[in-house]
Amino acid sequence: MRLLLVAAVSTFSLVAQATVIVPGATWTDTSGTPIQAHGAGILKVARSTFYWFGEDKASNTTLFHAVSCYTSTDLLTWTRQNNALTPIAGTMISGSNIVERPKVLFNKMNNEYVMWFHSDTSNYGAAMVGVATAKTPCGPYTYKASWNPLGAESRDESVFQDDDAAQTSYLLYASDNNQNFKISRLDANYYNVTAQVNVLTASTLEAPGIVKRNGQYYLFASHTSGWDPNPNRWFVASSISSAFSAQADLAPEAVRTYYSQNAFDLPLASGNAIYMGDRWRSDFLGTSTYIWLPLTWASGSPQLIWADVWSLNLAAGTWTIANGTTYEAENGVLSGSAVLASDSSFSGGKAVGFLGNGGSVTITVQGIGAAQWVSLYIANGDSTWRNTTVSVNGGAPVVVQQPDTGGGHVILSVPVKLNLKSGSNTITLGAGQSNFAADLDKIIVYTAS
Ligand SMILES: *[C@@H]1O[C@H](CO)[C@@H](O)[C@H](O)[C@H]1NC(C)=O
Ligand SMILES: *[C@@H]1O[C@H](CO)[C@@H](O)[C@H](O)[C@H]1NC(C)=O
Ligand SMILES: *[C@@H]1O[C@H](CO)[C@@H](O)[C@H](O)[C@H]1NC(C)=O
Ligand SMILES: *[C@@H]1O[C@H](CO)[C@@H](O)[C@H](O)[C@H]1NC(C)=O
Repeated sequence: MRLLLVAAVSTFSLVAQATVIVPGATWTDTSGTPIQAHGAGILKVARSTFYWFGEDKASNTTLFHAVSCYTSTDLLTWTRQNNALTPIAGTMISGSNIVERPKVLFNKMNNEYVMWFHSDTSNYGAAMVGVATAKTPCGPYTYKASWNPLGAESRDESVFQDDDAAQTSYLLYASDNNQNFKISRLDANYYNVTAQVNVLTASTLEAPGIVKRNGQYYLFASHTSGWDPNPNRWFVASSISSAFSAQADLAPEAVRTYYSQNAFDLPLASGNAIYMGDRWRSDFLGTSTYIWLPLTWASGSPQLIWADVWSLNLAAGTWTIANGTTYEAENGVLSGSAVLASDSSFSGGKAVGFLGNGGSVTITVQGIGAAQWVSLYIANGDSTWRNTTVSVNGGAPVVVQQPDTGGGHVILSVPVKLNLKSGSNTITLGAGQSNFAADLDKIIVYTAS
């Protein structure tokens, strides 16, 4: 049997320009290559161009390969430019060290772009920040130094530029063995930190970002669980140096931030924002995907909205969440060892379990004669990823990766793009594989692409 990887299938989308954001899919750049920009930092330049800096992890290892630089005017179509930063042998940014979470600020006083990043040795023992500078957004950047800011450890970090006349900026960082989360002011050049202005003692936070909204400073961060996800939190303070509120969830705790970790939070014209997270795949780091979601203050507090497929009106700072057609797995035709599973967490109270390893389910859906996004709503109570074959109308199967969802009754959705003909199609999941797939609650077929 011929197995195609999902990444290969997504080349269908090269024909037509994507107009939707599909969290968790393999996103490709304008050359059709998967986007390698993990631990993202986004910089908007001249009101129209977005620069996305990130870790190129195509090697699947944690070691420094490159800080990539991509450009876009719509946040959907990304063109890879020259690498912004590459290894320099014999320095803290050699190819045997760590460079993570690159964030770039524009320093208007010096007319210079300044990149901050987590700079470390391969065992994360040095816990430094690094700085590099350039005269153009993608550089390449000139490496300046790596050091322990104010003499203390710094691992996961980000930067925040305030909107005062001087554009005072700050380093946000996990310090003191990731126990204390600190905020320190940068000097006027953005080359160093000058003073610690805040600390969340014993907060065990990492993966930070700050959005300023109506004069309030909203801090977003995860807790520390390695590459595994945890419920990311939000905090608010009335100034950068005043006490932050107690932690609160960004999303229902059980879904662990929809299996993602915060990387960057991009303010929108509407006063809302986009949450930009990483869905890390620790055993194949380069296949880690991006979870970008609407971050809304509609309730008065910041909350993530899960969206399988969504689009953005950048000028207005608003979004549209696509609607699809739902097909319950329990209404499909079960085959082999597949069984119905009952639980109130499943829509309709039922899911199909024991898929793969001899069990499969076939669901009949309506298509429009196009490559269409289909979201698989799954529960995987293991501590490791599973996968499932997906075959349309009896054709060659593709394999869809299925993260552990944090419990056998916790449901997440994973996307796959499938070529559906106009009218009735069958979608068979779990056939022809010797490993177990996740339990399947339902699938949703979308027409937006
Ligand atoms: C990284 O892992 C993916 C998934 O297994 C694989 O397709 C890819 O070839 C790997 N890359 C390298 C450089 O080994
Ligand atoms: C940053 O400033 C401190 C003094 O506060 C100094 O010791 C350190 O060398 C500086 N680091 C860099 C990279 O300039
Ligand atoms: C999706 O359905 C909801 C509920 O019916 C509706 O409010 C919303 O406008 C629909 N969205 C789109 C993009 O059609
Ligand atoms: C699917 O999962 C099984 C069991 O974990 C693994 O052996 C296999 O390599 C995976 N296949 C793909 C294509 O990821």
